[in-house]
Amino acid sequence: MNRRTAEPYKIKSVETLAMLSYEERKDSLNRAGYNTFLIDSEDVYIDLLTDSGTTAMSDKQWGAIMTGDEAYAGSKSWKKLEATVRDVYGYKYVLPTHQGRGAENILSQLKIKKGDFVPGNMYFTTTRAHQEMNGATFVDVIIDEAHDPVAEHPFKGNVDLNKLKTLIDKVGPNNIPYVCLAVTVNLAGGQPVSMQNMREVHELCSLHKIDVFFDATRCVENAYFIKEREVGYAGKLIADILKEMLSYSDGCTMSGKKDCLVNIGGFLAMNDEGLYIRSRELVVVYEGMPSYGGMAGRDMEAMAIGIREAIDDHYIEHRISQVRHLGSQLVEAGVPIVLPIGGHAVFLDAQAFLPHLSQDEFPAQALAAALYLDSGVRSMERGIISAGRNIDTGENNRPKLELVRLTIPRRVYTNNHMNVVVDSIIDLYKKRDTISGLRMDYEPPTLRFFNARFAPLSESGELLN
Ligand code: F0G
Repeated sequence: MNRRTAEPYKIKSVETLAMLSYEERKDSLNRAGYNTFLIDSEDVYIDLLTDSGTTAMSDKQWGAIMTGDEAYAGSKSWKKLEATVRDVYGYKYVLPTHQGRGAENILSQLKIKKGDFVPGNMYFTTTRAHQEMNGATFVDVIIDEAHDPVAEHPFKGNVDLNKLKTLIDKVGPNNIPYVCLAVTVNLAGGQPVSMQNMREVHELCSLHKIDVFFDATRCVENAYFIKEREVGYAGKLIADILKEMLSYSDGCTMSGKKDCLVNIGGFLAMNDEGLYIRSRELVVVYEGMPSYGGMAGRDMEAMAIGIREAIDDHYIEHRISQVRHLGSQLVEAGVPIVLPIGGHAVFLDAQAFLPHLSQDEFPAQALAAALYLDSGVRSMERGIISAGRNIDTGENNRPKLELVRLTIPRRVYTNNHMNVVVDSIIDLYKKRDTISGLRMDYEPPTLRFFNARFAPLSESGELLN
């Protein structure tokens, strides 16, 4: 018998969920312009919009919050966080930021000059926005399999070294300020990068004196996949795998809201003292004193503990297994999802789900809206709307993947919640022909997915017909 496992924690405090009627959800969706970002959270039953800042903290974290040192300068909570990052992640220098994009802003400003190229393994919205705002062009050097939703590659986040070499030869290493390597790759489906690939990218870049900066946002999840899939790592501790991974980088940006198990916070870390000193100047300008950087003392206490809880082998094993609990049931029912199932989310392949809609009818946006209408489950479009427009031509960027992300918050929902999500999606899949496409009625100039508004294209004006 395959014995079942359960959450490696028990529940100490609960929050009641909203359970709206179909008509109430319809009103709510209308008010939100069919954009799940604009739905009020009090109208959501199961919130899978993001795994960012939505973590349930532990009793130890809540306890430590009372001990936060709220001093403007020299906070002892910062000392604790700084020492923890150095110890667990292995970087020499650390600076606090209010969240991941605060670190991205500082790194991009200091490293990029106008006309530069920043290679990366698929883009992330805020990361690319900061690179572009500082005059760089982002170049995707991820392996081709990452753009194929059903290619079963164990490390779909890997960099294609030939693509990277070609770029270096074409534009010259002096015009590449750093390589940005995301571990795992969010928009590819939470797909990991192999240790070997990290090592090879680092070697190639060292040869050309190009820095490698990791987007370490979901690095613990990446470490788990290495343990599971890469030869030589099965018997190792997650903590040791993580340390080795990060040793193949010169620094990282971190959104603490994911793998540091907190609701707010982030950091920028590096080994180069000169960069640290210059970064510290910008932390003061944008974030706050270098001993808090946009976080309260209590936030830093919680993050120092969360960083250690995240590398607990039982925690991370359950985390990944819950994502699989959701994804594998969808696979069994024939629902098209991105494979293999990734680290933080299950991604529905909206193009395959709704083949009657063209990309200009926003299939992923429509499917996310339909899921909310059907069951109050909130998800997120990751397709043509999220990809925005080309900064030079103004044309829509056309990503190969048109996805709906079902992102699992850490330690928040049980597998029963996952089952409710599965049932709703399977029902929608059965009546997929009835789901209408959308038109965009309002388009904001930057990061349009947050505030864009839509309406159904169907003659009836209904999303589900
Ligand atoms: N990098 C990656 C890979 C991310 O997924 C995010 C945020 C960031 C950087 C930026 O971090 O939000 O702390 O400023 N991702 C969230 C998401 C918003 O829903 O995927 P931040």
